[in-house]
Amino acid sequence: MMRNKYWLYLIFFIFLSCKTSQKNNNSSISIDPYKYTIQKSTIAENGAVVSAHPLASKVGVEILKMGGNAIDAAIATQLALAVVYPQAGNLGGGGFMVAKLGNGKEIAIDYREMAPGSAHRDMYIDSAGVARTDKSQDGHLSSGVPGTVAGLFESAKYGKLSFDKLIQPAIDLAEKGFTISEREARSLNTLQDELKQFNTVTPVFIKESGWKEGDTLVQTDLTQTLKRIKEKGAAGFYEGETAKLIVEEMKRGSGIITSSDLKNYTAKLREPHTFDYKGYKVLGMPMPSSGGILLHQMMKMIEERNIASMGFQSTQAVQLMTEAERRAYADRAEYMGDADFYKVPVDMITHPVYLQERMKTYDPAKATPSTMIKPGILIRAESKETTHLSVIDKEGNAVAVTTTLNNSYGSKTVVGGAGFFLNDEMDDFSIKPGVPNMYGAVGGEANAIMPGKRMLSSMSPTIVLKDNKPFLVVGTPGGTTIPTSVFQTIVNIIEFNMSTEDAVYKPKFHHQWLPDTLAIEKGFPQMVIDSMQKMGYHFYERGAIGRTEIIKVLANKKFEAVADNRGDDDAEGW
Ligand code: GLY
Repeated sequence: MMRNKYWLYLIFFIFLSCKTSQKNNNSSISIDPYKYTIQKSTIAENGAVVSAHPLASKVGVEILKMGGNAIDAAIATQLALAVVYPQAGNLGGGGFMVAKLGNGKEIAIDYREMAPGSAHRDMYIDSAGVARTDKSQDGHLSSGVPGTVAGLFESAKYGKLSFDKLIQPAIDLAEKGFTISEREARSLNTLQDELKQFNTVTPVFIKESGWKEGDTLVQTDLTQTLKRIKEKGAAGFYEGETAKLIVEEMKRGSGIITSSDLKNYTAKLREPHTFDYKGYKVLGMPMPSSGGILLHQMMKMIEERNIASMGFQSTQAVQLMTEAERRAYADRAEYMGDADFYKVPVDMITHPVYLQERMKTYDPAKATPSTMIKPGILIRAESKETTHLSVIDKEGNAVAVTTTLNNSYGSKTVVGGAGFFLNDEMDDFSIKPGVPNMYGAVGGEANAIMPGKRMLSSMSPTIVLKDNKPFLVVGTPGGTTIPTSVFQTIVNIIEFNMSTEDAVYKPKFHHQWLPDTLAIEKGFPQMVIDSMQKMGYHFYERGAIGRTEIIKVLANKKFEAVADNRGDDDAEGW
């Protein structure tokens, strides 16, 4: 009898231990931050996350496994990127989210940085009339008021899990540290001189002996910032200790962000910019990103020209797409800016008649010089680093998020005591009419600096629907090359019927009106270059164009997630 009782107690004890450990597994995430591998593609049934860093993608998928939806996973992935991918993942920057929710709703969240209250149109023009891009591109004065944390909390309204659960993996990664890759070590080593130049307090990223693959990066100040956000919500960033540290940093470096700029920042819920393309519905980001509208213009300018019959990377197809790109970017320079401050003629510049008119000067036999292409006449009756993540779940939620510090590591200024980089997004404004920003993009009145205004972006988080259900969830970093990369990836899949990997990995090209040159990646076919040079095109080979992260919903309803091979990008699913 006693023996039986003993066994009963033992079985009950084992049962209790199992329950307790199950519960623990449900409330914390077990990822080994010191030993992880990169997975470039996967096919999954329940959900998928693709991002620029394997640890961030893994965090996202673990959140899905805990019962979170795609929005929860996107938030946790962004927070993890803010720790493991400091060149672009961020708390001190901004971003955009486009989502198709399981309940059918289509939403866009704008958490773009905004100009501080004392910013003004000529703030980067010196007494000799010279545009000081050194001031708009690096250091304290280059930062807009950060939007990311507000955006995460605005997004969380559509999630299922508590914010505590979503932020804890980032806290763990910052507190316990993670192993850096060879690529990351190289990137941090390249940054050392600039870190010394643009910081008032020595940041953790400075290492006199140099970083090497396998080193562990522990971020103590960032851990405390994340814990304040966990404890106090958005106020843990925009008010109290973190805000005080930002304002003190500004004062030490002649920056202009004040405590009321921080307190007054809000993320904005917007309607996605939508259009149809051959039966697909495309959801893109509206102003203050030029992304959705540029994509709309470029796709409509090629829609009726049977590009599929021309073939992938044929001279004909590349030339047609280049001419569409050139014309759309001329409009960007003239008409696009924060629509809350400038009346952007969206309906006119996306009108079918207007777009037809734009292509009237298109000649399949020769280049149309950019000097001949002015912004369209309106028919009356916007390592350069940014980062993208795509997430999907089995409840029908699809989320595309592109977020940025602008340049790689933004302003290169880390907020002393708070451990995160501030953006250099002010350079995305037109700091002087006709003066190119770091991406060579020019602009004017529409994108001039005004207090509280959001600088024109090119970020293009995009969702393509088929039968009103998510088909593609796509986006990329790359400054002004973002819309053209997204354009080419979608056309590669829809028109050229290419595999998802090829659609992403094959060399891309980019034309943005000015400068009048066609940028190409290494490996672009020489035959096409030769024949297009004869037509009057000027080529230059540049480094990688984008790091595209895509999820495609297959006919069997499974999710094919593909991470770009141009970086350490990683695709996870379950
Ligand atoms: N900072 C790059 C963009 O927003 O387009």
